[in-house]
Amino acid sequence: MIPVDRLTPFEARIEHAELAEKIARWDKAYHGSDAPEVADAVYDAARRRLGAIEAAFPDLAGKSPLAGKVGAPAADGFGKVAHRIPMLSLDNAFSDEDVAEFDAKVRRFLGLAPDAALAYMAEPKIDGLSINLRYEGGRLIQAATRGDGALGEDVTANMLTLPEAELPRTLGPDAPDLIEIRGEVYMSKADFLALNQRQEEAGEKVFANPRNAAAGSLRQLDPTITAGRRLSLFAYAMGDASAPPAASHGDYLDRLGQWGFRVNPRIRRCADVAEALAVYRSLGDERAQLAYDIDGVVYKVDALDLQRRLGMVSRSPRWAIAHKFPAEQATTTVEAIDIQVGRTGALTPVARLVPVNVGGVMVANATLHNEDEIARKDVRIGDTVIVQRAGDVIPQIVAVVADKPRGPMAFVYPETCPVCNAHAVRPEGEVIRRCTGGLTCDAQAKERLKHFVSRNAFDIEGLGDKAIEFLWEKHLVRTPAAIFTLEEANRASLTKLENYDGWGKRSVDKLFESIRGRATMGLERFIFALGIRQIGDATAKRLARHYGSLEHWRQAMETASDEAKADLISIEDIGPAVAKDVLDFFAEEHNRAAVTALVDAMTALGGRVEDARKADASSSPVAGKAVVFTGTLTTMTRPEAKARAEALGAKVMGSVSKKTDYVVVGADAGSKAAEAGKLGITILSEQDWLALVGQV
Ligand code: IVH
Repeated sequence: MIPVDRLTPFEARIEHAELAEKIARWDKAYHGSDAPEVADAVYDAARRRLGAIEAAFPDLAGKSPLAGKVGAPAADGFGKVAHRIPMLSLDNAFSDEDVAEFDAKVRRFLGLAPDAALAYMAEPKIDGLSINLRYEGGRLIQAATRGDGALGEDVTANMLTLPEAELPRTLGPDAPDLIEIRGEVYMSKADFLALNQRQEEAGEKVFANPRNAAAGSLRQLDPTITAGRRLSLFAYAMGDASAPPAASHGDYLDRLGQWGFRVNPRIRRCADVAEALAVYRSLGDERAQLAYDIDGVVYKVDALDLQRRLGMVSRSPRWAIAHKFPAEQATTTVEAIDIQVGRTGALTPVARLVPVNVGGVMVANATLHNEDEIARKDVRIGDTVIVQRAGDVIPQIVAVVADKPRGPMAFVYPETCPVCNAHAVRPEGEVIRRCTGGLTCDAQAKERLKHFVSRNAFDIEGLGDKAIEFLWEKHLVRTPAAIFTLEEANRASLTKLENYDGWGKRSVDKLFESIRGRATMGLERFIFALGIRQIGDATAKRLARHYGSLEHWRQAMETASDEAKADLISIEDIGPAVAKDVLDFFAEEHNRAAVTALVDAMTALGGRVEDARKADASSSPVAGKAVVFTGTLTTMTRPEAKARAEALGAKVMGSVSKKTDYVVVGADAGSKAAEAGKLGITILSEQDWLALVGQV
C-alpha cells in the first residue's frame, strides 16, 4: 500500500472514493442485516486509511457519504434512553365478543352502568414502530424507540432526517413546557416497494414488509442511510407532560394536529362500542386501498381522567385494546419454483402456487427473493407453505408448514441461466446471482427492450410488454434500433404487422406515429433507456447534465481513461461501482454498436438526441457566493447539499467568517449559527435556501 504522503491528489481521490464506498457497504451489511461482511480488523484498518487520506487531502473530507461521522460508530450502537413513563403495549381482541368483554371490564372498573355514556376513540393500528418524541420549551430535544418499554434507543439524529411536515421541530407557544408525544414511524407501501426495488437492483437485502423496512431504516447508525429512506409518522399518544394538554384524547389529537403533526384522518370518536365496531368494519374494507399497512383498530377510552383512573395492568393500559384484523395469510402448495431473468441478468426465484384466496385476492405466485431466502426457509417443490399478502404488497412465502408432508428434495439453485444457459455468477458479498449472457440472453434482451420503451424511458405508446413479447417472438424487433426501422421494414415485408391477430391497420398506424414522435429524445431519457446497471432515472439525469451531449458522454466513456473515470466519480451519487458499470457498458463492442445503430435509426426518421441543459453555474443566484451549511439538514445529506451548491457555482466553506455570504442552518445548529448572527451574515433555513436556488 502506498504511504499516504506519497499519494498524488489523483490517486488519493480514487482511493478515497473506493474506500468510502466499501465502508458504506460494510456499514449497511453490519447494521442492516446483522451480518458483518468483513472482520473488525479489516474494517478498522479501512477506516484509519480513510481518515489518514482525509487528513492529508482535506478537500476530500466532505466528499464521502460518511462525512460528518467522526471515527467508527460506538460499538454498542445507539445511546440508551430510560422512558420516564413506560411505553406500553396493547392487549389484543380478535372478535366482537372480546371487544364487548373489554367494554364490560372498563365499566366494572369505573363503576359505570351498562347503559351509561362511555365514549371511545377508534384509530387505525398502524403497522410500524413506536417512537417517543420529547419536547422541552416547545423544541424537539430527543427521539427514542420503544425498546423493551422501559429502555429505548436514542434515534434523534435519524428522526431529524424526516422533513418538518412529518416531524415538527417546534410546537406552538401554547405547548406545555415539557411534553412527550408518541406515535408510529412507518413506511408507506409505495415507498417500501420502491426501496425494495432499489435494494434488489443494487444486489442488497430486501425487506420482508413495510414494518421491517421502517425499523431497519430508523435503526441505522449512519443517519445518511436513514435520510435516503422515506419514513412517515402518525402521532397518537402522550408520554410524560408537565401539564395535561387536553381533557380528552380526541382534543389531544386535535392539538397534535395544530402543532403540525400528522394525525390519522380516519380516527373517529364513537359514542359506544357498537359505533367502534362499525369503524372496525369499514377500515377492514378500506384496508387494501390504504397507502400504508394497518393490522387492526385501537379503541381508547376518550376521557383522559377516566384513562388515569383505569391505569395499567402488567404492561398494557386498561383503557385501550387493539382489535386485530384476521391475518391475510393462507396455506397452499408449491407446484414449481421458476427462475425469472431480469433486465440486468438478475435471477429471481418465483414460487408457482396452487391458487389460493388470501384476504379476498387470488394468489398464484409468490416471490422468493433470492437463493439465500429459499435456503433459509428451505422451501421445496411439493411443500405446503403459508403465504401472506399485506395490502397491495407482493405475496410472500412466510414459512413452510413443517408437520405436512415435505417435498422430497431441497431446491437446487441453478448456476446457469435457465433462458440462455450462460454461466450465472454470484459475486462475493452479493445476494443476487446474475446471468453473464448480456444481450445474447433472450430474457435480458427482451427485458431491456421493455425497459427501453417504458414510461420514464422512450415512453412509446402502443408498445407495452405484450407488444414487445409479440414483436420479439416474430423476430420483428430485437434491438432498440429495430423499433425505429420497424415501419420501413413492415413496408418492405410481405407479412404485414397489420395482418396479425390483435393488430389491425389503425393500431399499427398509431404505433408508427408514436414511434416517429419519439425519434427525437432528450439525453436524460436516452441514457436511462439504455438500461445500464445501476443507472436509474435520477443518475441518468445527472449524467446528462454533466456531459451535456451524447457525443461528449460517449467520447469520455469510450476513452475510459483514468481522467474520464475520475470525472465520472466526481458526479453526485456516482461511486466507483456505478462508474465501473457505465464504463463496462461502453467497453462492450455490441453495446457501442447498438447505440450507434439506434442513433442512426432515429436520425433516419428525422430525429436526434437532444442535448441536456447543462447545470448552469453562471446564471444561478448563488454563483460565486460563499456558503456554510450547519446543523442537520432534512431534505438532503450534507455531502449532497455541498455538491448541489457547488454545481450552482457557490463556494461551500467549513467555517463562518466575514467572507461568508450565507449560513444555512438545519436542526440543532450550534455555534456557527450564533457566529453568523454576530457577524450579521444572512441566515437561511434549509427551506429558504432551496427556495433561493429554485430547488423546491
Ligand atoms: S396507543 C398505551 N395507538 O401498537 C398505548 N398504538 O401493539 C400505546 N400502534 O406499541 C399505544 N397504532 O407501536 C396506539 N393508533 C395507535 C397505534 C398504536 C399502532 C402500535 C404501537 C404500540 C403497538 C401495541
